[in-house]
Amino acid sequence: MSLNKCLVSSPATVANLGCGFDIMGLAIQEPLDRIGVKLNSNREIRISEITGPEGHKLSFSPRENLMIHVLQCFTKKLGTKQGLDITLEKHVPLSSGMGSSAASSGGVLVAANALFDNPFNNDDLVTLAMEGEKFISGAWHADNVAPCIMGGLVVIPNYEPLSLVSCPFPEDLIVVVVHPHFELPTKEARAALPKEIPLGLAVKQWGHVAAYVSSFFLQDKNGLARYMEDFVIEPARAALIPGFYDVKNAALENGAIGCSIAGGGPSVFAFTFDQDQAETIASQMALAFKKHQIECDRFYSPINPNGCHLID
Ligand code: HSE
Repeated sequence: MSLNKCLVSSPATVANLGCGFDIMGLAIQEPLDRIGVKLNSNREIRISEITGPEGHKLSFSPRENLMIHVLQCFTKKLGTKQGLDITLEKHVPLSSGMGSSAASSGGVLVAANALFDNPFNNDDLVTLAMEGEKFISGAWHADNVAPCIMGGLVVIPNYEPLSLVSCPFPEDLIVVVVHPHFELPTKEARAALPKEIPLGLAVKQWGHVAAYVSSFFLQDKNGLARYMEDFVIEPARAALIPGFYDVKNAALENGAIGCSIAGGGPSVFAFTFDQDQAETIASQMALAFKKHQIECDRFYSPINPNGCHLID
């Protein structure tokens, strides 16, 4: 080991992206967590410090904090009993649909991997990070952890075995995210989903998914606008987000090419190709939430191509 501590920056992410439930996600530029991992001499994996605006909501307990859990999985896979101290500066809001748990697990794994001279590849790290998602929500999904770790836009065509495809995207695509100030745990958002869907609806949805993914590969902006719509998950979850359709209409009326729930919500995201329109779209979406007595944070940026990366 050439280092005894590593610090990484770990981004928020948007999963599903409309019709791609559990199989697509992208990284955004802000907010970012900062996560440090340092060797200790007592064979224990523990959290030494949690700071940042969201930090007070998190526990230091190994039974409750997913970062300890994923590092235990990491050291077990590596076959070491090395003790590690974790520091976390938490900015990505919890239970927001912006991949807060993914930012924690992805960041801590990328930092630990660098500390041990990179024994694991992206497939290994994403698989380990999914242990964190399962720990928090009971669900085994990679559509936040993969783009968090790898950056850019990632498609997951298969889970067993895991298959990760970095997908091209138009560089001028701006992702607008509006985060309403209430929490919606992924577990609850998943409990609202239908267990089965009629075949006709499934055909409609997978037609869109196929055309949506190929539109990214072809850089076909009209295709992105035309095929983003989700017929299955969004209608089932919309009622969990007061004013969702008003917010979506505000985005579309102000020039967004599409709008849907970010991950499990309650954040809502929109796409635009017009940098000047992004601020208007974000503020009009926030205003629509405000009409339902809900305050919001707003973010907009191009897709973050880097994902988790070392800053020290
Ligand atoms: N695909 C997951 C879901 C993302 O929609 O439940 C959670 O952020």
